[in-house]
Amino acid sequence: MTLENFDKDDFLTNYWQKKPLVIRNAIPDFHSPLSPDELAGLACEEDIESRLIVGAGEKWQLTHGPLADQHFEALPEREWTLLVQAVDHWMPEVASLTDYFNFIPYWRIDDVMVSYAADGGSVGPHYDNYDVFLVQGLGQRRWQIGQYCQPDEAHIDNQQLKILQNFKQQDEWLLNPGDILYVPPRYAHWGIGEGEDCMTYSVGFRAPSHGEILSHFCDHQLAQMDELQRYQDPAIDTNRPAGEIGSDSLQLIQSILLQQINKPEAIAQWFGQYMTEPKYPQLHDDDTQNISLDELSADLSQHEHAYKNPASRLAYLRNDHGLQFFVDGKAVNSSPASAELVKLLCNQQHYLGCALKNKLDITENQTLLLSLFNSGVLYFYDDDND
Ligand code: SIN
Ligand code: CO
Repeated sequence: MTLENFDKDDFLTNYWQKKPLVIRNAIPDFHSPLSPDELAGLACEEDIESRLIVGAGEKWQLTHGPLADQHFEALPEREWTLLVQAVDHWMPEVASLTDYFNFIPYWRIDDVMVSYAADGGSVGPHYDNYDVFLVQGLGQRRWQIGQYCQPDEAHIDNQQLKILQNFKQQDEWLLNPGDILYVPPRYAHWGIGEGEDCMTYSVGFRAPSHGEILSHFCDHQLAQMDELQRYQDPAIDTNRPAGEIGSDSLQLIQSILLQQINKPEAIAQWFGQYMTEPKYPQLHDDDTQNISLDELSADLSQHEHAYKNPASRLAYLRNDHGLQFFVDGKAVNSSPASAELVKLLCNQQHYLGCALKNKLDITENQTLLLSLFNSGVLYFYDDDND
């Protein structure tokens, strides 16, 4: 699936993480895969993260889901927005939107959030720390782009909502279904629903902060550290006062730290696991089954397509031994004979049943595919094509 009226090389050189871009009619004839009622239904579910924001100007009110009938009954006519996080995890039709953005690595994607706004509804002027493609799904939304925000940008006095006190509008567009606005991290933006039934699909990316990178890598390394490896004094200088920390000690400490991070293999192993960790690990427990190889083979013949579970994250990296495969935060042992299969599984999000069935010719692939189907990472979904 590719976007229309869009040159990905030009985009990556001139816009990605640099400046906002509107792509008109990027998805011609786009039909919102979700209705407003279905979105409201998701917001009532216990396991699904949702927010309801009512207000405008200086007065805002935030309610976290799960929502109940009375929340909807109490809503005013205008100026409210319902936002549901990670709808792609629950609805394959929404997950398939991410295929349009496959010019960015899949492991950078966070989720697809879907919002519904009544006339005048918005979440207020704000900035995000992440890149986002805002796909207009239904109705119209007026987007304004503001300044590039500094870390000390002032917010209105609301602890929960990060609404900017000063929004300096630079540009404005009215988006129709199929139009997309790309907003880089830290650009102020403000989208206001215009008319009835405005739905927006936000394909959001994730980028760990340097602090998160350091702390997660250190946690990973700590699990393998030896308590007996300890600080040892450099030659003690008897002329130095007893209260002083010498520069030789500091150099030693620096070299201990550098030694611990100068480990390309450990970094690769950790990063593959880290970037494939599921957004909601608790969702992965109920999907297991126990089908046999014969059943899998028959299923692959019957179904035109098989799918990656939208809540699962797959990636591989190349190392001296071939490919290292990562699934949902774990390094998976796979034989070099399965390299082509691993690449296929990671580089696509859905697969032709017959293409996977052909891979069963190799014994190592049988074990791998069977375990991925049985653990719910891969699955069959009866859409219109099957
Ligand atoms: C929205 O969809 O209402 C808000 C999305 C955003 O501004 O990031
Ligand atoms: Co935003």
